[in-house]
Amino acid sequence: MSKDKVYVDGTVGLGGHSIAILEASSPSGILYGFEWNENSFKIAQERLKKFKDRVKLFNKNFISIKEVLQKEGVLADGILLDLGISSFLLEHSKRGFSFQKNEILDMRINYSIKLTAKDILNTYDYQKLAQIFKKGEVPKAEKFAKFICEKRKKQSFETTNDLVKAIKEFFKTSKKNLLAIIFQSLRIEVNKELENLEIALKNLPEVLKPFGRILIISFHSLEDRIVKNAFKHNPKIKILTKKPVTPSLEEIKRNPKARSAKMRVGERL
Ligand SMILES: C[S@@+](CC[C@H](N)C(=O)[O-])C[C@H]1O[C@@H](n2cnc3c(N)ncnc32)[C@H](O)[C@@H]1O
Repeated sequence: MSKDKVYVDGTVGLGGHSIAILEASSPSGILYGFEWNENSFKIAQERLKKFKDRVKLFNKNFISIKEVLQKEGVLADGILLDLGISSFLLEHSKRGFSFQKNEILDMRINYSIKLTAKDILNTYDYQKLAQIFKKGEVPKAEKFAKFICEKRKKQSFETTNDLVKAIKEFFKTSKKNLLAIIFQSLRIEVNKELENLEIALKNLPEVLKPFGRILIISFHSLEDRIVKNAFKHNPKIKILTKKPVTPSLEEIKRNPKARSAKMRVGERL
């Protein structure tokens, strides 16, 4: 990684990648960091303080990267998006992201988002719910949506346990994979994750320098498909990874959460 360059981390989280970028581009590389979640942002701010004016952090959605960089009058040499949510949000946010914790079914990455997961489960009509589950590749999406609509007539959905119970009752199983994709499908809807990714992929090549690179790490096929197609259909992008790069067995052993990661890289023409 060269010096005197401008990098963007669109998903700072607690700052792991940002710190690595700042260290590798020392002493003069500049990092613009974006983190939408309020609590992660505060922690990252503390952790990145030592890099002083080499880092500019924004508690914003990564769809605003283009606007911010244009306002600052800079183009980027490299842009990174490490999609999804972090272990920190799953384990400590108390926003109901995990089926393994009994919490209020909120799932908003940022509190300015209007609808929570429980609002969606309790108010969306059957067709809209079925669409969310279908989009999230949940099996028996239509029938499950109908089941949710029947259940909520008796008692509204409030907590993650309420949803877990309904899943177990309908599917007659509590397989982790199934729980994970149903929770994921709701999280994607609450935070408009696929829409945000599409907007970002359209805008980001415009704020890259020639030969600047955009690197996206995704964790499920819905995201990876969007990244693959966006790169393929953007005439300003040369694809550097014909196939997505996946973690080695050794890396998966060290960090099992990386097992489904897929990385694609494009270069600005
Ligand atoms: C997988 S984690 C990133 C971890 C980070 N790379 C690190 O090294 O710690 C994804 C992060 O992106 C944030 N995020 C999700 N959607 C976002 C969006 N649209 N804009 C900005 N941040 C977002 C989440 O809050 C989460 O902290």
